[in-house]
This record gives sequence, C-alpha cells and structure tokens, in this order.
Amino acid sequence: MIYQKILIGNWKMNNNLIQSINFLKKILKKNYTKNNLFGLKLAIAPSYPFLFLIKKIIKNYPLEIFAQNIHYDDYGAYTGEVSANMLQSININNVILGHSERRKYFHENNNILLKKIYQALNYNFKIIFCIGENEEERQINKHFDIIKKQIESTIFKLNLNQIKNIIIAYEPIWAIGTGKYPTIENITTMNNYIKNIFFKKYGLFDSNILKIIYGGSINHLNCKKILLQKNIDGVLIGNNSLDPDNFIKIIDNCLN
Ligand code: PGA
Repeated sequence: MIYQKILIGNWKMNNNLIQSINFLKKILKKNYTKNNLFGLKLAIAPSYPFLFLIKKIIKNYPLEIFAQNIHYDDYGAYTGEVSANMLQSININNVILGHSERRKYFHENNNILLKKIYQALNYNFKIIFCIGENEEERQINKHFDIIKKQIESTIFKLNLNQIKNIIIAYEPIWAIGTGKYPTIENITTMNNYIKNIFFKKYGLFDSNILKIIYGGSINHLNCKKILLQKNIDGVLIGNNSLDPDNFIKIIDNCLN
C-alpha cells in the first residue's frame, strides 16, 4: 500500500531554468491527481533561484516543493545564505536538512544541524532530516551506533510535538549516487531499529508519528519494492529525479 507515502526528488545543484521548466511541463501534462496517485505524495527539491517560479507554476498541482537547505538565523551578514523567513515569504514551507553532502562539503555537524532544525520548526516547516552511515562504518558493523549518535544529538533534543514535523531519511552514504543499495531487509531492519530507539526515549507513542523514508540509488526498478514495505514511508531520489521522463517512469512504475 503506497497510500500517504512520499516520493521526493532531490535535484541537488542540477537543472537550470530551462531544464526546470521542461521538467514541470512534462509532469503537469501527466495530470496527476490525489486520486490517480492513490495518495502517493510527490515532491521535488529544486535549486533556490527557481523555487519562486516553480511554486507559481504548479499552483494546486499535487507536487510539494522543498528547499535543499536553510540558515539557522532569520537574517544577517551571512553572504550566500538563505533563511527560512525568506522561503516562507514565497510560500515554501518544506526543507531537507542534514544531507550527507551538506555534512561532508559544508561541514554541517550535528550541532549546526540541530540549530537549523529548531529554526525550521520555528517557521513551522516540514523537515526531511537525513542520516546515514558510510561504507567503512557499515563494514565494521557500526552503522546502528552511528545512526543512534546522529539521532541522539539532534532529533532527541525535541519533544514529541516537534517530531511530528520531521521525516527521517535513512540514506546510507555508500548508496548515494553509486548504484549500490542495501537489501530491503537491511533497510527495514534499520527502520525498526530507529523506531525502537524512539520507543525507548519517548515511551509509548503513536508509531505513525515517526515517518522514515529511504534514499540511495533509487531507480524505476527498485522503487516500488521499497515503497511497498510497511515500515518504509517513502523514498528520496537523487540522480534519477533530474530527468522528467525518468522521474515519471519511477512514479508510474510505483502506481502500476
Ligand atoms: P541518489 O541520491 O538517488 O543519486 O543515490 C540520493 C540522495 O542523495 O538523496
């Protein structure tokens, strides 16, 4: 059952204006509706310069728009940065935080990410928060510890009410852009592990509150199988979300 699951394309630093418009034209032509999507939620995270225009073009089309980052302050002398306040002013209320590329190339550690989470929550944003282990950590069987640490120093600082606005994206770093991906069992085991540490921390809570999606080398062949798993609430797609035909093929394969 894919009802209420989310399928989001993270464009990263790809797709210029013409490519973005072309993408939208093709996806709008598909005439997706809540009904013919069977509740599957579609989203994309384009680059900043195009968010305003894209938001205007899609109007009420069932395609949510996410930003790929925010700063943790409202405004100020931070050359090159964009605030939640600015995004809110153009009706963007969703953001991806903690992607491994932000952690690696822009040195965003868990302290910085926690500040960004608080800031996004101040603005009532929906947050996709990425966590994941690298290849070596997986090989030496440290992946559960790494995930726990990433969660303990960020999301565990929040209360249950705040957690409602967060979707966790489990993205093993070794699976991102590599064509390698974990087995379904590896993913569901990790998702169960994450749910368990939440139960330990917060006691009894409605496990539906906690949404956990998977990201890393998703394509039109593996997407449906992954989405059909009961404890996987969606997918985050990088490379294969850039080309509209490819993205549409993934969506249609999941629906059929
Ligand atoms: P990929 O990227 O689909 O290209 O592996 C996933 C991601 O970085 O979220």
